[in-house]
Amino acid sequence: MAESKPILKALAGTRVSPPPIWLMRQAGRYLPEYRATRQKAGDFLTLCYTPELAAEVSLQPVRRFEFDATILFADILLVPHALGSELCFSEGQGPRLSTIASMNDVINLRPPGIVRESLAPVFETLRILSNENPGNAALIGFAGAPWTVATYMISGKGTTDHRRPLEFMRSEIMVFDALIDRLTEATVEYLSAQIEAGAEVVKLFDSWAGSLRGDDFDRYVIRPIRNIISRVSEKNPSVPIIAYARRAGKAYSRFANSTGAACVALDSSVDPEWAALRVQAHSCVQGNLDPKLLVSGGANLVEQARKIVATFSNGPHIFNLGEGITPDADPRHVQILVDTVRDPDWRSRRA
Ligand code: CP3
Repeated sequence: MAESKPILKALAGTRVSPPPIWLMRQAGRYLPEYRATRQKAGDFLTLCYTPELAAEVSLQPVRRFEFDATILFADILLVPHALGSELCFSEGQGPRLSTIASMNDVINLRPPGIVRESLAPVFETLRILSNENPGNAALIGFAGAPWTVATYMISGKGTTDHRRPLEFMRSEIMVFDALIDRLTEATVEYLSAQIEAGAEVVKLFDSWAGSLRGDDFDRYVIRPIRNIISRVSEKNPSVPIIAYARRAGKAYSRFANSTGAACVALDSSVDPEWAALRVQAHSCVQGNLDPKLLVSGGANLVEQARKIVATFSNGPHIFNLGEGITPDADPRHVQILVDTVRDPDWRSRRA
């Protein structure tokens, strides 16, 4: 039964034509219905922790565009929040967290199993979604990967150069390793509980993987993700896992080879022709349209979407963006994208 959902077929290694489609951050501020529900909730964290509202915003883009997946509405920073970090999202500034600076700070985090209690509203959202999700759409749960979550816990906010986490990783190896281990344990518990609550697929977001290279990439991107995947899969062998390592560059092929992920999500800097040879040979691929094209629209949007569909058409592929959709994206462009992916020639036939 479940295998009739196009995304589950692709994740099982089958070529599906046209490819199934969903978009990273598909529930968000570019949609007027999201902005209305968000306003009703008051602030972002209240929205995440109110199951009826979180389920509502998860479903909004799926109703509007008939996407092939519903992704749980939550955030990767709920795990540090559950472990005891203070967290707030202030308007226009992104997230702010209390910082980890010493071994004591790591020791004082709450035990990994606490996520099962503290994040109970998230599991309730998934239970609602598994009842209300349209029949063709797969239900996707997710978590941040340890390195990416650690960068926020060490910096106390989002940064792009990761100077502090990189310095910390080198000068406080024991503390850093203890933090990565704690996050690994918590993530295994969190994803396992999401699956128990109805997630049919889970995704790990290593959005800042590109800040690490060489041995550091192997040790803090590949290793923790491989650990999480093997432990979650041991308990749930039939639940496929998607892994995203933004800006991994050429390391994407090593990543695809060694994490055990059923699918590798590619960012938009990756050349599809390279990835078709070097990544799709090992696993299903997801991606990788530049989200800027959903702001600008036009012929370029249609051309790039067709090119991605054609280049990945010889193997399993899930169409997606390479990064999350931005608040200034135009919902009409999203509709054009969906129509193009489902029928690349719809425009020429209509003309
Ligand atoms: O994909 C989805 O629709 C599901 C929900 C989802 C959100 N965040 C909702 C959100 C998912 C999967 C995430 C993941 C996430 N969160 C990542 C990894 C993915 C990526 O984009 O690289 C990261 C790094 C975060 C951390 C985070 N959350 C930041 C840096 C911000 C602020 C940036 C911003 O856009 O304001 C958030 C907030 C956030 N998470 C919003 C949404 C819809 C915007 C909050 C709002 O409504 O004001």
